[in-house]
Amino acid sequence: MRFFWQLFFAALVAASPALDQSSVNGCKSLASKFQDRVVYPNSVAYANETAAYWAQNVILQPSCVFIPRDSNEVAVAIPILKASNTKFAVRGNGHMTVKGAASISNGVLIVLTNFRQMTISSDSTVASIGPGLKWIDVCIWIQQYNRVVVGARYAPVGVSGFLLGGGISFLGGQYGWGANSVINYEVVTAEGKIIQVNKTSNSDLFWALKGGGSNFGIVTRFDVQTHPTGQIYGGLMTWNQSTVDGAVNALAAFATPGGGIDDPKAALLPNVAIDPASKTQSAAFFGFYNDADATVLKNFTDTASLNLAKVTTYADLIAGTAAGAAGNFRAAFHCGSFKASAQTVKLINDTVTRDAYKNLSDLEGVTISLSIQPLAKSWFDASRKAGGDAIDIDPSAGSLIVLNLVVQWKNAADDTKIATWSDDILAKLSEEAKKLGLGSEFIYLNDAQEGAKPFPTYGGGKSRARLLSIRKKYDANGVFQNLMPGGFKLGD
Ligand SMILES: Cc1cc2nc3c(=O)[nH]c(=O)nc-3n(C[C@H](O)[C@H](O)[C@H](O)COP(=O)(O)OP(=O)(O)OC[C@H]3O[C@@H](n4cnc5c(N)ncnc54)[C@H](O)[C@@H]3O)c2cc1C
Ligand SMILES: *[C@@H]1O[C@H](CO)[C@@H](O)[C@H](O)[C@H]1NC(C)=O
Ligand SMILES: *[C@@H]1O[C@H](CO)[C@@H](O)[C@H](O)[C@H]1NC(C)=O
Ligand SMILES: *[C@@H]1O[C@H](CO)[C@@H](O)[C@H](O)[C@H]1NC(C)=O
Ligand SMILES: *[C@@H]1O[C@H](CO)[C@@H](O)[C@H](O)[C@H]1NC(C)=O
Ligand SMILES: *[C@@H]1O[C@H](CO)[C@@H](O)[C@H](O)[C@H]1NC(C)=O
Ligand SMILES: *[C@@H]1O[C@H](CO)[C@@H](O)[C@H](O)[C@H]1NC(C)=O
Repeated sequence: MRFFWQLFFAALVAASPALDQSSVNGCKSLASKFQDRVVYPNSVAYANETAAYWAQNVILQPSCVFIPRDSNEVAVAIPILKASNTKFAVRGNGHMTVKGAASISNGVLIVLTNFRQMTISSDSTVASIGPGLKWIDVCIWIQQYNRVVVGARYAPVGVSGFLLGGGISFLGGQYGWGANSVINYEVVTAEGKIIQVNKTSNSDLFWALKGGGSNFGIVTRFDVQTHPTGQIYGGLMTWNQSTVDGAVNALAAFATPGGGIDDPKAALLPNVAIDPASKTQSAAFFGFYNDADATVLKNFTDTASLNLAKVTTYADLIAGTAAGAAGNFRAAFHCGSFKASAQTVKLINDTVTRDAYKNLSDLEGVTISLSIQPLAKSWFDASRKAGGDAIDIDPSAGSLIVLNLVVQWKNAADDTKIATWSDDILAKLSEEAKKLGLGSEFIYLNDAQEGAKPFPTYGGGKSRARLLSIRKKYDANGVFQNLMPGGFKLGD
């Protein structure tokens, strides 16, 4: 009998070779302090929390999930994880398409699910919002005050990852990155201290958090400046395979100096869809104008097969983007940037589409979406005017196109092939663009692929050294570099 149990036990241990003892110790120490806020496999809460990601391919199985109730609990947890040398990951709302960015195996997953605070100052100019919220939560809530926050264009995107990586919104031409409207961060540091980070208190870190991502601490509250809103014009416009050239041509005209891109109130969320199997294109764009004026979007509305753009409210427009919801697919973003011009738009469209038709047509369930995002010079001016940030794009270089190449596919067996193709096509595109004088180095962290290096592109190469020295000051032992290894890290 004894022998049988020994064998059984040995088999159990052998069946879980990946079990890392230190992470289990970390779970145990956290559990002894926080009881039911630490959950393990085979519980409903664990199943819920470990599945809450936009794309299936980033899902991992952590040793346990820690669901803190407030910033004090996060502040107690970090030294515990440090003392037990336990690796961990932090999830806002799970939209980053990089495996391990907000998930982990053999470690502790900290989820910010309970951080759903929404309060507004008495004059409605400052909103305090929690990192567990989605943008749609904030948009709908704040509309009653006739205010907006510079948040994501898609409803389900997380507040925190978006703001830490910069943040591309419909309002960027007027106010810059989402991060430029943050006036104070509440941060839990590597030492387990809760600090306020703003223009006058920890001002170096204030600059670093505007684009610096998950390298400095865990943000437990964002205080953001709100902006007035009234009627806006916008909505979804779609083109089918016979009208799609109209979308690409309208976008090319928009991106030309003197086109819509030069109006700070105008914005687009363009997606040119490529279906390699049928070798066809279609398009779905959201258009936006921060006033009840349809003129700037006329090239789009004139050519669209379906036009739902109308005079409406900001919250209503964002609610209409809920179609970007999570689903049963695998997905990866890839980011490149270019000088804004009609030629750039045509080059991206043509290069990627032709290659995808040739090389991806035999894979199952593949769609590619070209999000050819115009970021106007006025955007970069507004960013500096608001006090600057670590991203620090020089406005004198003019407007940019920031491409998010989104590939969605069905089978895990195709993961490597898709990753290789995406890297190759991006490299090919950058090379072509450089030859034509349309190149740009900037990589946007929130749209970047695994392995990309956004920080060396910040500030024309000047920001990274400063970011490193700030990290050294606030996280001397590199807790957020080494114990929280996921996502985009500054390196050494
Ligand atoms: C459908 C869709 C639409 C999108 N639309 C837009 C858009 O309109 N504009 C735009 O700019 N981007 C957009 N994105 C990209 C989006 O900004 C990034 O994916 C962003 O990281 C999402 O934030 P999250 O909290 O959901 O992500 P998560 O995956 O939870 O987190 C992203 C990273 O930030 C870290 N992190 C999260 N919260 C914290 C915190 N509180 N403290 C420290 N680190 C933290 C995580 O550890 C992780 O490394 C979109 C993405 C998707 C999938
Ligand atoms: C799990 O998710 C379901 C569906 O969203 C929810 O109703 C339930 O309360 C969650 N349970 C736990 C323990 O998180
Ligand atoms: C900045 O931080 C200090 C110190 O905590 C605080 O007193 C001040 O109110 C903060 N400023 C803002 C704008 O939040
Ligand atoms: C619309 O297209 C025309 C013709 O290409 C172009 O001249 C014009 O600038 C475009 N308008 C906008 C607002 O982009
Ligand atoms: C595409 O849309 C147009 C309307 O813009 C319509 O006339 C045409 O029949 C549609 N084509 C296809 C293939 O659905
Ligand atoms: C976009 O690229 C495809 C593939 O090369 C091409 O068929 C289409 O005409 C292009 N669209 C425009 C407007 O140039
Ligand atoms: C597509 O396939 C061709 C060979 O048929 C190859 O030369 C090319 O590099 C491939 N494109 C990408 C982006 O991998």
